[in-house]
Amino acid sequence: MEYQNNLLQSIQKEQNFNSLSYSENKEALLAALWWYHYQGVEWAWCDPENKASQTSEGLTSLDEQLQNLKYELECFQECRLIDTAQHTVFADGNPAGGIMVVGEAPGAEEDRLGKPFVGASGQLLDAIFQSVGWTRDHVYITNVVPWRPPMNRQPSVQEIQVCLPFLQRHIALVKPKVLLLFGAVAARSLLGTMEGMAALQQKELFYKNDLLQEPIRLFVFYHPAYLLRSPGQKRAVWHQMIRLQKFLNNKV
Ligand code: URA
Repeated sequence: MEYQNNLLQSIQKEQNFNSLSYSENKEALLAALWWYHYQGVEWAWCDPENKASQTSEGLTSLDEQLQNLKYELECFQECRLIDTAQHTVFADGNPAGGIMVVGEAPGAEEDRLGKPFVGASGQLLDAIFQSVGWTRDHVYITNVVPWRPPMNRQPSVQEIQVCLPFLQRHIALVKPKVLLLFGAVAARSLLGTMEGMAALQQKELFYKNDLLQEPIRLFVFYHPAYLLRSPGQKRAVWHQMIRLQKFLNNKV
């Protein structure tokens, strides 16, 4: 997506528009834009004026603030994963539901559709939530990095580090009652620990960052992709879901 910011320029160059005016070339320009659209290219002109407008108190709604954060990510040029991705996969679900889920990174399906957890892992994640009667309207889902790493490799430490301030801001905006971290990449990135997943699942954990007034209760889960490879570990997920339900029902 790197070239998107300069897309108009490159279209102009390709179509030899430089010497001609927009009105003379409107049809050809529109045809080129449609062509890019059908190739699945997502538009990101990165014009600061495009940000959601502020109210007189300088405040915007949560949806607008989230939209602005997504927009900032689309314009962010410090993580090269954006170059090979089709979409910036920002989030899905209900940001006001109180339950925020963090995964690792988009896979091929997520990159194609621009939504987190819509492939095989996503189906298992949905089934986990359905087991307690939740749909995507009950949860808000995002990832540590918003772009698919090539060949579905794990994001590197450097890629995680440059994207982390966005995730920290994302969590501070949503201010969920509880955070559910799926997989070691999410757990290590947000907890800053290399402790094993089995040990982390036994602990009472909280997430803090400088933008938050209160720590947020946090539960660690095995990643659905790992569960698909090791179905025997699903038992640990059901245990975590029971602990989570107790917490949400104020029983712990
Ligand atoms: N795996 C993740 O961690 N996130 C997704 O969005 C999809 C698969």
